[in-house]
Amino acid sequence: MAFLLRAATWGLVPWRSYCSKGVQRELSKGFVEALREIVGSPHVSTAVAVREQHGHDESMHRSGSRCQPPDAVVWPQNSEQVSRLAALCYDQGVPIIPFGTGTGLEGGVCAVQGGVCINLTRMGRILELNPEDFSVVVEPGVTRKALNSHLRDSGLWFPVDPGADASLCGMAATSASGTNAVRYGTMRDNVLNLEVVLPDGRLLHTAGLGRHFRKSAAGYNLTGLFVGSEGTLGLITAATLRLHPAPEATVVATCTFPTVQAAVDSTVHILQAAVPVARIEFLDDVMMDACNKYSKLNCSVAPTLFLEFHGSEQALKEQLKRTEEITQHNGAFHFSWAKEAEERSRLWTARHNAWYSTLALRPGSKGYSTDVCVPISRLPEILVQAKEDLKASGITGTIVGHVGDGNFHCILLVDPEDVEELHRVEAFAKQLGRRALALHGTCTGEHGIGLGKRQLLQEEVGAVGVETMQQLKAMLDPRGLMNPGKVL
Ligand code: LAC
Ligand code: ZN
Repeated sequence: MAFLLRAATWGLVPWRSYCSKGVQRELSKGFVEALREIVGSPHVSTAVAVREQHGHDESMHRSGSRCQPPDAVVWPQNSEQVSRLAALCYDQGVPIIPFGTGTGLEGGVCAVQGGVCINLTRMGRILELNPEDFSVVVEPGVTRKALNSHLRDSGLWFPVDPGADASLCGMAATSASGTNAVRYGTMRDNVLNLEVVLPDGRLLHTAGLGRHFRKSAAGYNLTGLFVGSEGTLGLITAATLRLHPAPEATVVATCTFPTVQAAVDSTVHILQAAVPVARIEFLDDVMMDACNKYSKLNCSVAPTLFLEFHGSEQALKEQLKRTEEITQHNGAFHFSWAKEAEERSRLWTARHNAWYSTLALRPGSKGYSTDVCVPISRLPEILVQAKEDLKASGITGTIVGHVGDGNFHCILLVDPEDVEELHRVEAFAKQLGRRALALHGTCTGEHGIGLGKRQLLQEEVGAVGVETMQQLKAMLDPRGLMNPGKVL
């Protein structure tokens, strides 16, 4: 409340013609001055290049009327400044868009109605490490790689790995996951507490100030509400994360199969045999061809699994043996494994470069990513169907997936000049989302709703589900200023 009063007594020239259609939006000088007052002049920019850089993520949702640059970018350095910024914007009716590393894939940072982009990367401290409790508190500028470097000699690590070196609070905001989720879970399973600046500037600790317990039955799960809220309910200014013991030893393996079905059946059998696989990734034949070319691998061009195992030397031997037996039983052509750090890194770098290797298949193209997740028993049929749909619609695309979770992506190529091709790709993506829903799956296992999947969200959770979400949103953000146009 104090913040609101302070903003009101500044005598600001209000944000002009903000919502009136057809009138050019403009930040008043007084408003920009008030932003500078809060964070300091070097931490505010209205330069066109800076604003444009903050108006998109890595997805195709970067052009057109829906995806515009914000009107100003600010870099707060602490939570108090974030509170004051939120209170100021809220008081003046200005949209607020939180920004981390900009590596999202569903247009979550596009400034649909303009407004102030709050870039949180200058809050980069690791605030507290509790090794015996397996927890750490990080500010929003800390990326997952920075955290793991910090933890290097502690015997602990943070396993959630979406590929990009994203900020951990951004990963919490988008409920990120990636290759290790099959063993260690997604952000939903690894966030213990969040410090959130609510739209009006109040500070919320979702599990209570300073708490970092492993389990709780105390009241509603506010932490869970904010994980995956995609910046539409508040700004995450610190996250308490769950850490894991670093594995004693690691082995990677690759395995090629005659069919998609054989690869997926092997995955199900490996999980049923309780092999505690740490990563199990599916790459289709087109993806393997792209990886061979881009990352100089020498693998067969066939449906392939990349696997990783964590444990003691003895446990690894058993895991490898059991896995090889299962894959052979399912008709695998080839199974090989490696322990050396260099070989492991070569393989996972190739996997993480899936996006760039797909783009390199047709230089000049842009990538359009899809993301669906189905119960694992339905995975073979949706993968086979997706491949047929790709062929029928004449789209070039690769398939890569976190197969142990039933989650996969098609990375589709689009000529940016070819509107008809873009429409075909969008239609394919929507159809794939609907196929996943029909199989009791979800339209996004990992990348979120953002701008493009709001219709699919409605189909997924139904009218009462959407109404409940809208009511929660209206209660926390009655003026609809937090990252407008996303999710709902
Ligand atoms: C991946 C990203 C696209 O799995 O989610 O590579
Ligand atoms: Zn992924």
